[in-house]
Amino acid sequence: MFQNDLLRGKRILITGGGTGLGKATAQRFLELGAEVYICGRREDVLIATARELGERTKGRIHFRRCDVRDPAAVEEMIAAIWTEGSLDVLMNNAAGNFLARTEELSLGAFQSVIGIVLMGTLHTTLACGRRWLQARRPAVVLNVTTTYTESGSAYVVPSAVSKAGVQALTRSLAVEWGNRGIRMNAIAPGPVPTEGAFSRLLPRPELEQLAKQKIPLGRFGTVEEFANLAAFLVSDGSGYINGEVVTMDGGEWLQGAGEFTALGRQLTDKEWETMKPKKPLPTK
Ligand code: HXC
Ligand code: NAP
Repeated sequence: MFQNDLLRGKRILITGGGTGLGKATAQRFLELGAEVYICGRREDVLIATARELGERTKGRIHFRRCDVRDPAAVEEMIAAIWTEGSLDVLMNNAAGNFLARTEELSLGAFQSVIGIVLMGTLHTTLACGRRWLQARRPAVVLNVTTTYTESGSAYVVPSAVSKAGVQALTRSLAVEWGNRGIRMNAIAPGPVPTEGAFSRLLPRPELEQLAKQKIPLGRFGTVEEFANLAAFLVSDGSGYINGEVVTMDGGEWLQGAGEFTALGRQLTDKEWETMKPKKPLPTK
């Protein structure tokens, strides 16, 4: 899909790059010539991913253990990376989420998810952004949101409020920093099978079929499809795209939003026939 040197010379940090979508994207960026940093809380996961992707792609991958909720730890990580050279791209992918009835959540549960998703994104973006602005250096930020940032969603309220905040941050800074060469966009994926997401958000395997019925394309997205979109959005080929949230959900949210979609699917052929006009339609 892309020339193999699409991202040559780019230095990229992917938060939460040890697993799932972040890991698949790290692999794609390496295949396209980027030098990649991944971070997360679990060092064993980071070591295994860095080793696996390094061997598979022969690319340059580094890891740093960092909890993005902690601004001092983020500052330390970014300062350490900068001693080896500036980053060109920051991808805010780390997240936390779980299904729960909101009235049963503790304050700690809210703080945990808001801390990772919203504050974590803010910490990394500010740590990198201040350096880029001071050095007058062009750069790209790619955030990962969800399809429920506009609508909200029951049962994932800490995530919904956080991702909506990330979307607002994306659009706000795209404008505030765009005139100084920093582009900021987001991808809003629908369901893409990963251990992290599906183990927490799909409590029974048989619910998969129900979930697929909500998607016009009749299937979930793949990590490869996500990684290719991310590669395009961080590449110079998308240089005029700024402040955009690209939805990647097989048409799922549109199907949910359409007033007559569900009703139309319930109608029989006979009922469709009876709704046609009694007179034959004019031929011209
Ligand atoms: C209610 C919960 C809970 C649950 C944790 N808590 N899980 N409350 N229901 N299922 C509460 C705890 O009681 C605690 O509250 C607080 O949250 C922090 O929990 P810890 O386990 O101490 O936190 P921590 O170990 O830091 O784990 C953070 C986490 C966890 C967010 C809770 O799930 C995690 O590590 N997630 C990372 C990966 C992830 O979630 N990936 C999925 C991303 S998918 P107290 O009050 O005791 O402090 C996604 C979009 C999907 O984001 C969209 C699909 C379409
Ligand atoms: P995942 O594998 O669970 O990825 C989350 C990553 O974030 C993990 O590697 C985790 O590593 C890291 N992380 C969590 N808390 C962190 C913290 N405090 N500091 C640093 N890193 C932290 O899930 P995924 O499905 O790939 O999700 C990736 C992104 O896509 C998320 O932003 C998610 O909201 C979004 N998304 C996913 C889907 C989907 O269906 N998969 C749909 C819509 C949006 P550690 O646990 O080691 O820290």
